[in-house]
Amino acid sequence: MEGLLDFVLRDILTRAGGIDRCVSEFIRVNNTLLPARTFERIVPELLNGGRTFAGVPVRPQLLGSDPQCLAENAAVLAGLGPFGVDLNFGCPAKVVNRHGGGAALLEDPELLNRIMAAVRRAVPAPMPVSAKMRLGLHDDLRAEECALALQEGGAEELVVHARTKADAYRPPAYWERIADIRAVVKIPVIANGEIWTVQDAQRCRALSGCSALMLGRGMVTDPGLALAIAAQGPGACGAADASDAPHIAWNALLPLVADFWLLARTRLDRKKQAGRLKQWLNFLRHRYPQAEQAYLELRAVSDVQQIDAWMAAQQQPRAALTARA
Ligand SMILES: Cc1cc2nc3c(=O)[nH]c(=O)nc-3n(C[C@H](O)[C@H](O)[C@H](O)COP(=O)(O)O)c2cc1C
Repeated sequence: MEGLLDFVLRDILTRAGGIDRCVSEFIRVNNTLLPARTFERIVPELLNGGRTFAGVPVRPQLLGSDPQCLAENAAVLAGLGPFGVDLNFGCPAKVVNRHGGGAALLEDPELLNRIMAAVRRAVPAPMPVSAKMRLGLHDDLRAEECALALQEGGAEELVVHARTKADAYRPPAYWERIADIRAVVKIPVIANGEIWTVQDAQRCRALSGCSALMLGRGMVTDPGLALAIAAQGPGACGAADASDAPHIAWNALLPLVADFWLLARTRLDRKKQAGRLKQWLNFLRHRYPQAEQAYLELRAVSDVQQIDAWMAAQQQPRAALTARA
């Protein structure tokens, strides 16, 4: 997720378990052939056999609108040995749509098909090429047509974010429309959008007919969510936890937050470090009162050394306990 779920947060969240595969934030492709180092900067997992340090495969995602240019870039990317290549047909950002990319392409199924076919031809046959789409740009009338165009172009798998671009990120997600898409395509479909709890996951599965789910903001807010969903099994439909209680206790999450900070401090631009921690705390505080407290304490702090000291102070009670044990 561009600007939010990058390699730093992927590393941390995949340690929490329950995730079979990640898709990277989009890599924008327009008119140039990106060098390998650009792909490796955005998806450094490519230097680790394509996996996060917890061992979860990462599929890099490309975003663009020119079939030839996307195909040439996909070929370079494929040479770096990723776990497949994903194409973005869902981004709602104005700057992206103005250049005909992301969700804007859902107005033109014929172009979707040409993009997918060109990328499919450019990537070695055993390597999967998948796509992520919204239901449409202004309405969902052509959702099935778009899904079929992507399948016919050679998509091996389709993630459907069950909203149009016009819906932005406003609830609800129309999971039942994913079932309509599943009814017309033969390729596996993965359901996405508004899964915040185990109960949401079960309702999404029931309405969409999908067993595979993609989690976005729900996982950032509750890092134990994927494991809790996995524990229910893909066909579960019994009573599920509908509460907002997080699935990992704060004491267990705190070391991950500290590691996140360490990674941010060593791997991100200094100017971005404090903001990234506060951004994650801003999600976590919807589930954890302790994150709310941390967010309030750090909200006005941008000096990274002050945050280092704050983080060390959080660790002290734990260290003291360990020393006594
Ligand atoms: C800040 C932000 C950045 C995102 N970046 C991407 C992206 O780079 N590629 C992508 O396919 N989807 C991206 N998305 C969309 C999410 O992957 C997901 O489809 C959407 O948030 C719905 O799922 P959720 O309700 O579980 O969050 C982004 C969403 C947000 C909020």
